[in-house]
Amino acid sequence: MKRTFLLSLCTVSLLTAGAQQLPIYQDPVQPIEARVEDALSRMTTAEKIAVIHAQSKFSSAGVQRLGIPELWMTDGPHGIRPEVLWDEWDQAGWSNDSCTAFPALTCLAATWNPDMAMLYGKSIGEEARYRKKDVLLGPGVNIYRTPLNGRNFEYMGEDPYLASRMVVPYIKGVQQNGVAACVKHYALNNQEYLRHQYNAVLDDRALYEIYLPAFRAAVVEGGAWAIMPSYNLYRKEHAAQNRRLLNDILRGEWKFDGVAISDWGAVHDTRPSITQGVDMEFGSWTNGLTEGFKNAYDSYYLAQPYLKLIEQGVYGTQELDDKVRRVLRLAFRTAMNTRKPIGSMNSPAHSEAARRIADEGIVLLKNDRNVLPIDLAKRPTLLVVGENAVKMMTVGGGSSSLKARYEISPLDGLRQRVGTQGTVKYVRGYVGDVGGSYNGVQSGQDLNDDRTPEQLEAEAVDAARRVDYVVYIGGLNKSNHQDCEDSDRTGLELPYGQDRLISALAKANPNLIVVNISGNAVAMPWVKEVPAIVQGWYLGSETGHALAGVLTGDVNPSGRLPFTFPVRLSDVGAHRLGEYPGNAAELELMKQPEHKNDTIDVTYREGIFVGYRFADKERIAPLFAFGHGLSYTTFAYSKPTVDKKTLSADGQLTVSLTVTNTGMRDGEEVVQLYISDLKSSLPRPVKELKAFRKVALKVGESKEVQFTVDRTALSYFDDRIHRWVAEPGMFEAIVAASASDIRGKVKFALE
Ligand code: BGC
Repeated sequence: MKRTFLLSLCTVSLLTAGAQQLPIYQDPVQPIEARVEDALSRMTTAEKIAVIHAQSKFSSAGVQRLGIPELWMTDGPHGIRPEVLWDEWDQAGWSNDSCTAFPALTCLAATWNPDMAMLYGKSIGEEARYRKKDVLLGPGVNIYRTPLNGRNFEYMGEDPYLASRMVVPYIKGVQQNGVAACVKHYALNNQEYLRHQYNAVLDDRALYEIYLPAFRAAVVEGGAWAIMPSYNLYRKEHAAQNRRLLNDILRGEWKFDGVAISDWGAVHDTRPSITQGVDMEFGSWTNGLTEGFKNAYDSYYLAQPYLKLIEQGVYGTQELDDKVRRVLRLAFRTAMNTRKPIGSMNSPAHSEAARRIADEGIVLLKNDRNVLPIDLAKRPTLLVVGENAVKMMTVGGGSSSLKARYEISPLDGLRQRVGTQGTVKYVRGYVGDVGGSYNGVQSGQDLNDDRTPEQLEAEAVDAARRVDYVVYIGGLNKSNHQDCEDSDRTGLELPYGQDRLISALAKANPNLIVVNISGNAVAMPWVKEVPAIVQGWYLGSETGHALAGVLTGDVNPSGRLPFTFPVRLSDVGAHRLGEYPGNAAELELMKQPEHKNDTIDVTYREGIFVGYRFADKERIAPLFAFGHGLSYTTFAYSKPTVDKKTLSADGQLTVSLTVTNTGMRDGEEVVQLYISDLKSSLPRPVKELKAFRKVALKVGESKEVQFTVDRTALSYFDDRIHRWVAEPGMFEAIVAASASDIRGKVKFALE
C-alpha cells in the first residue's frame, strides 16, 4: 500500500517534471498568443528571416532547431494542385496527387446557397489536409468588373453582398481542418491584362462599397488566417507593399491577425515590404510562372537584403517580429495544430459534394415551350454537338489547373444517363482549342481534327435535321484569352465561329438546347432563335453527371446568375465609362520598347455602378440579369409586408412574404431582397442586394420567408467623413426573383 502510494507519487512528480520541461510554445494547452511569444523569444534574427519567405516553389522554412515545421501552400481554389518539383514548375511526377475537382467558384456563387459554400470549404479543406497542406491559396473574391477578365471564373461574381455571404462559410469550412484559407487577390485585381503593371484608380466609395466588402467579410466574419495581396498597383504602390491596403485597412481597420502571403512574384522592393508589405514572400523572380533561376530564395527581398539592413542598423526587429508572430500564429493554427483531423482525398463524399454544388449552380437561362427537361420516357434521339461536350476543362486556366482523379465529360454524362432510353450521337461542330496541358499535366486527349469549319458545320446541320433534340455544348475554355489567368478575353462574343454554327443548328432543328460552358458572360446574338439555354460553368469532376441531371430533369435547376449577362460590351460600366484595359494615351506609349514596363492607370470611372447597378442606373435591359435563373416549376410571391413602418437607428426591421410552388415539380426558389434608398444626398444605386434565401418547395407548398435588416443594409460609405452612413428618410424593400424580375415592394422609413 505504502509502496504503491510512493510509486504513484513518483509518477506524478515525474509527469509534472515532464510537463514543466515542455516549452510553452510546444504545449498545445497554452493559449496561442503565449506560444507565439515564447517561440519568438527563442528565435535568432537569422531564423526569423528564414520563416518569412519561400524555401521552394510552395513551401517556407520552419525552425528545425526548435521543432517548428515548414509550411506548405497549395492552389486553390477548385481542388488541390498536383505536386511540382521543389524548385521548378514541372510536375513532381507523383502518382497519388490527383484530386477531386470541385466546380469553379462562379458555379459556387451561382448556387446562392451558403450551405454549399460550407460544404465546398469543408471538402476541399479535407483534401488539402490529407495532402499535408497548411495553406489553401483561395478562395478568390475579386469583383466582376468586366466580362473580359480572364480570371472571373475563379471569383464569386459582381455583387459584394453575395460574394461576402458565400466566402465566409467557405473559409470556415476550410479552416476547421487546420488548413488556412488564403483569400485572394487583395485588392482590385479586376483584370488580368497588364496585371503586374496597372494602377487601379478609384474613389473610396467604390473601394469600400464594391471592391472591399467580400475581403472584409472574409477577414472579419470568416476569420481568414491568410490573405494574398495581388499583383496590380493601387495608389501607385504594388498591392504587396501597399501602405493603405495592408497597414491602414487590413491590419488597422479590420484587425487582421493572420499572414499576408505575397502572390508569386508580387514583391518588388525590400524597404516598403518591411514597413508596409506582406508577411511572407513567395515566387520572386519566377514571375509567377516562368523565368525561374535556382536557389534564388536567399536573395528574396525579405531574405538576405532584409537581414543586411537590420545588421546595418537601418531597421530594428520590430517589423520583423510582427511578421514572424503572424507566421508562428499560422503554424500553430495549422501545421502545429495537434487537434487537426487527418483529412481525406477523393472520397465518395467529395464526389457527392462536387455533384451537389454543380447541381445547384447550373443556371437555366431560357426554356421556351418547355423544351427542357428532355423527356426520356419518349425514347428520344439526341444529337450532341460541340467541342466542350468532350473537352476536359480541369486542365488549363492557370494556377487553378488540376490533375483530377476523374472528370466526367458532358457527352459521357449524357450517354450514361440516357442509356437505352434513347440514342445519343455526337458530332464535333467546330474545332476550338485542341491543346490540353498545364505545367506538364496532360489531359491526354487528342482533339485534332483537320476538317474545315464548313465541313464540320455541314455535318452537324445535316445530323441535326434527323433527331428529336440537339444539345449544343460549347462556350469558352481554359486556354489563353478565354477563361484563363494572365490574359483577358478579346471580346464578348463566342470564339471559333460558334455563333454562326448555333444559328445554323437553330434553323435545322426547333428543339435546340444550348449549354454554355464558361466562367464569364458571353454575347448571344442568336438568343431569340434558340428555345433553351443553360449556363454550365466549369463543373469539375462531376460535370457530365450534373449536366445530364439537369437536362433530363432528375435535378430541377436552382442556380441563379452571380453576374449580369450584358447584350454588348458597351452595356458594362467599365467599358462605357471607365478605362479598360487602361488609360489610352499610356497604352499607346507602352508600345514603344522603352515604355513597355511602365505602369499605367486604369480609372474606375463607373465608380460604384458595377454590374446590375450600372444597368439599373442607365436603364439598360441585360441579356440575362443578375440573380436570374429559371426552374422547371413556377413560384408565386405574396405581397411583402414589414413588421413596422419606421426602423429606429439601432433597431431591426423584418420583411415577410410567402412563396408558393405553383408548378408541377418540387423545386427551389432564390428569393432576393434589394433595398432602395428613395432619396439620398449622394448618388446611390437604384437598388442593392441586401439579403437572399434559397427555399425548397414541394409542389403546391407555401413557405413564409423573412428577412431581417438593420441600418447596415441601408448605409452607404460617405468618403468625405470615411464612415458608413444611413440617412434618415424613406426606403423601399424590393422582393425579386432577379435584378430585373421584381415581385413586390414595400416602403418604410429610417428614423
Ligand atoms: C496566381 C495565384 C496563385 C499563385 C501560385 C499566381 O500566378 O496569381 O493565384 O495562387 O500563382 O500558383
